[in-house]
Amino acid sequence: MPRPFIVGNWKMNLSLQEARILATALRKRLVGVEGVDVGVCPAFVFLMEICSILKGSGIFVGAQNMHWERKGAFTGEVSGEMLKEIGCTHVILGHSERRHVFGEIDQVINAKLRLAFALGLRPIFCLGEKPEERESGRTFQVVDRQLKAGLEGLEIEEVSLLTIAYEPVWAIGTGKNATPAQAEEVHSYIRGLLKKAYGEEVSSQVRIQYGGSVTPQNTAELLAQPEINGLLVGGASLKEETFLKIVSMAMEQLRSPI
Ligand code: 13P
Repeated sequence: MPRPFIVGNWKMNLSLQEARILATALRKRLVGVEGVDVGVCPAFVFLMEICSILKGSGIFVGAQNMHWERKGAFTGEVSGEMLKEIGCTHVILGHSERRHVFGEIDQVINAKLRLAFALGLRPIFCLGEKPEERESGRTFQVVDRQLKAGLEGLEIEEVSLLTIAYEPVWAIGTGKNATPAQAEEVHSYIRGLLKKAYGEEVSSQVRIQYGGSVTPQNTAELLAQPEINGLLVGGASLKEETFLKIVSMAMEQLRSPI
């Protein structure tokens, strides 16, 4: 079983001072955390500061996006190489807000995934269906397309290092999380696709996180599902207490799996 991976996606939230306070508290209170990997993804402008606060703590720092080219005339964009240079180890790619608010298509996300691996960054690759896609019974079809297009051309060793986040769009920021059974059904489907394409060993190494209205109240039952290997947490990652509660529940789960 892959190590559980709990990541806070801070999105476009927090002031610099709030981000500093939160990172400092996480550093202090997660000293010696065992068995669970933890990461945070602050806004671009705070990454350098948060990387320096969390240096040597074992807490990973990731960006929320990057450009698909190494460098060049792309006003307003940030490159993967820049992220590496300041100490980021991870990068969220294909988040639904990037897909649906900023129009990122599968091919763009695929180019970003390839480049992230080429640069030695570990991508957290997000996918998930929109409400109307679920309602019309197209969830598997959408996930199938997003997964295959996203992973096109990746080396098998790269796939084994991947974290996938299943984030149904209807569950993000709505307070309406997928039920554990709904999430598990899609996670199993994703695992099945990976197994078919890359074999049992590689597919079992890929971590599949769930994201969408995760709170301390629903963490235990979500993580109790065999195919849910971690969580990508939005709103509940912005407060020290709720995020730490989620991490400590993941640790608890390891000690006493349901
Ligand atoms: P919420 O936890 O706020 O629903 O956000 C989920 C998400 O999009 C994480 O990437």
